[in-house]
Amino acid sequence: MKRFIPHTELARDSRFKRVNPRNQLLQSLPDDVDEIVKVFELIAPKMRRRVEGTELEAVYDELGPAFQFLTASGGRQGEGDRSELQMKIQLHGIYVGELQALEAAGRTLWDFPELPWEFKMNMARQCWDEARHVQVFEKLMDHVGSEVGAYPENTFLFETSCHDDPVLRVTGVNRCLEGLACDVFRSLIDQGKRADDELLAQAVDFVLADELTHVRFGSDWSREFTRDDPERAARAREYQRETERSFSFGGRKIAREERLEAGFTEDELEEIEQLASERGGAPRRETLVAAAEILRDRHLARKRGEAVAPLA
Ligand SMILES: [Fe+2]
Ligand SMILES: [Fe+2]
Repeated sequence: MKRFIPHTELARDSRFKRVNPRNQLLQSLPDDVDEIVKVFELIAPKMRRRVEGTELEAVYDELGPAFQFLTASGGRQGEGDRSELQMKIQLHGIYVGELQALEAAGRTLWDFPELPWEFKMNMARQCWDEARHVQVFEKLMDHVGSEVGAYPENTFLFETSCHDDPVLRVTGVNRCLEGLACDVFRSLIDQGKRADDELLAQAVDFVLADELTHVRFGSDWSREFTRDDPERAARAREYQRETERSFSFGGRKIAREERLEAGFTEDELEEIEQLASERGGAPRRETLVAAAEILRDRHLARKRGEAVAPLA
């Protein structure tokens, strides 16, 4: 069996639809409402084609080409409760993330036969957990009236694991992305409790308990692999920071208690909080939402057959 496969070789059945990875577009946008409107009007036809045949098609038609900023956790409702649509999109995103976490841990186990037995056992344990999480989130999607393949899949989690140094894999995936997942899961549990959705709160709580273990695998093994190798340790830290920066979008709340339990130090948490509050090259949330609202209004006016003024 082949080692080190790229994300394009992940096996998926016909229910799945792929989108372009990462927020490269987001990172390249200036913090300027008019400029963002211009860019999105230009790429609107491409965006429309990308969502064709998925549930996002209806979302696009209702909200226009920048719908992602009006629905995702980066939208207006990012701070408080999720709308029904936001919940469906988020659960689907987590579901494909769990699937890729399973694939990434399995690959890491297979790609490095020379690594210690205990490391491989940890990765095997993680595969077992992630397989269970895939099933949990499949059932949660059903619980909120959604299903596998309803939204396009973004493969950023698996891509973060495409490194030939295992220490980058465990810092990027286990410490950074699964640490991020802890924050998201904590907020989902809180919403489940507020909405009297005991099933959601309980199911995600079980998953969160496992994720803490996975983050701890990352903390333990990155320390072990970089012992007596300050250069490798610095590379790992830099990769973690880079990953943290490209995936934190808008001020999110850090699940401090859980992260401390998983082996993060107070200093590291402070740094993550700092990164989460910076805009890291991407436009601010308010700018994106304001641009998305203009784009929506122009899109709806066109749909009604009204004349829309060209952009200056
Ligand atoms: Fe998981
Ligand atoms: Fe995990």
